Amino acid sequence: MTAISLAPGATLMPGYLARDAQQRLLADIDAVLRAAPLYWPRMPKSGKPMSVRMSNCGPLGWVTDEAGYRYQPTHPETGIPWPPMPEMLLAAWRDLSDYPAAPEACLINHYGPDARMGLHQDRDEQDFSAPVVSLSLGDTCMFRLGGTRRADATRSLRLASGDALVLAGEARLAFHGVDRILQGTSTLLAQGGRINLTLRRVTRPSD
Ligand code: SIN
Ligand code: FE2
Repeated sequence: MTAISLAPGATLMPGYLARDAQQRLLADIDAVLRAAPLYWPRMPKSGKPMSVRMSNCGPLGWVTDEAGYRYQPTHPETGIPWPPMPEMLLAAWRDLSDYPAAPEACLINHYGPDARMGLHQDRDEQDFSAPVVSLSLGDTCMFRLGGTRRADATRSLRLASGDALVLAGEARLAFHGVDRILQGTSTLLAQGGRINLTLRRVTRPSD
């Protein structure tokens, strides 16, 4: 496995999941999405819908609406607890996180051809000593990675189907976003588009 260090703490593993593993993971995610359908999240205050649809699995899910960003144990539209995290995701976390406790949230982002995600930090968690582990499926995206201050220089890189990205240590609070999706770059998703799975520890483990 090649691991490319993008910046201190930021590691890209191109092709971390082989095609058959991507297909198995996608089947697991399809099952999750049947129980916890993708919905349109809304921006805090304005209530403006985002261009990315979302769902979650695991004990906690990240949600956003007029009331703000937060983690909660239930789907905001169905009120049902998020489905458990598929074993493949737990295995990827054990392999990549170097963190002693299990992840609590897996955010599922679905990008259609025109979806994007503005530059932001992942900072709604209590424990920044745990990394953010991200897996990509489907169409390649142009991903932007910066430093821990919004004004820091950024670099642009491609995230392709099967790639893993880990933001740990100094890069745990790095600004990042998705500039655009490169339509038609993968045949994994029958309808096209991109799915990103972001695994996170939310609470501090009790010892
Ligand atoms: C995110 O930061 O929530 C998503 C990143 C990605 O789609 O790769
Ligand atoms: Fe993020």
